Amino acid sequence: MNRNWLTGLVVLLGVVMQMEAKPPAKKPAELPSFLKVCYRDSPDLNTCARESYEALRPRLMDGIPELYIPSMEPLIVPQVKMDQDSGAIYLHSVYRNVKVTGISKHTVNELRLEPSKLKFIVSLTFPKLHMESDYSIKGKIMMMPLLGDGHCKVDLVNITMRTELIGQEYKKNGANYLKINNVKVKYELSDVHIHLDNLFNGDKALGDRMNEFLNENWKALAEEVRPLMTKALVDILRASVDKLFSSFSYDDLLPKGKN
Ligand SMILES: *[C@@H]1O[C@H](CO)[C@@H](O)[C@H](O)[C@H]1NC(C)=O
Repeated sequence: MNRNWLTGLVVLLGVVMQMEAKPPAKKPAELPSFLKVCYRDSPDLNTCARESYEALRPRLMDGIPELYIPSMEPLIVPQVKMDQDSGAIYLHSVYRNVKVTGISKHTVNELRLEPSKLKFIVSLTFPKLHMESDYSIKGKIMMMPLLGDGHCKVDLVNITMRTELIGQEYKKNGANYLKINNVKVKYELSDVHIHLDNLFNGDKALGDRMNEFLNENWKALAEEVRPLMTKALVDILRASVDKLFSSFSYDDLLPKGKN
């Protein structure tokens, strides 16, 4: 049986949401046989991890229900909520039926497993992510009221995202499992294009001005919403990662032995 923990990295794409991807109901969970094995003590662990990831990649984009991984291309997220009340931004917003495309086009910058520290790092670059959703926003940004309810489109250009997971071992039913205690996410991006339909109850002049303002000031705004975005990403990652690591033992995900 091929087993590999690499699946865990998959969720680090940063976008696996609390999806309804249900694995077949059987216990104990077995890792799918198409996963390439990597051994925790191997000197080539990181090379193996990368190969395993690349081999998994095509499947990954279609989703792997056995591993709680939804389709990534496109990724559909039922709902994202963002509320912020700090700095120059007061914002209450909900995004429904979020569809993200472009995830499959990523490159892997770094993929580093440090079993001795129970630490796992992955850095990915996405040349362009396109998002569309229904939105509802009420708030104030940089002294200007922002109000709208409609459809929105956002392009994020050249995003690099680095995720670090730090876990802790525990025993369950006689096997070693990992609990991820710490999820860190950092990201950088080069450009943002945003369009919100139907701002200010459909007042086109006001709406156009606001869209212009948002696009001209994306950099400052992106910094303002960074804590919010980071928290959203961390929450999302944590949910997915917790599911994965509580379903499969650490010994299955990253087996010992066989150097
Ligand atoms: C993409 O972003 C990185 C920083 O994260 C930067 O070094 C690189 O020059 C950017 N590339 C392009 C094409 O903008």
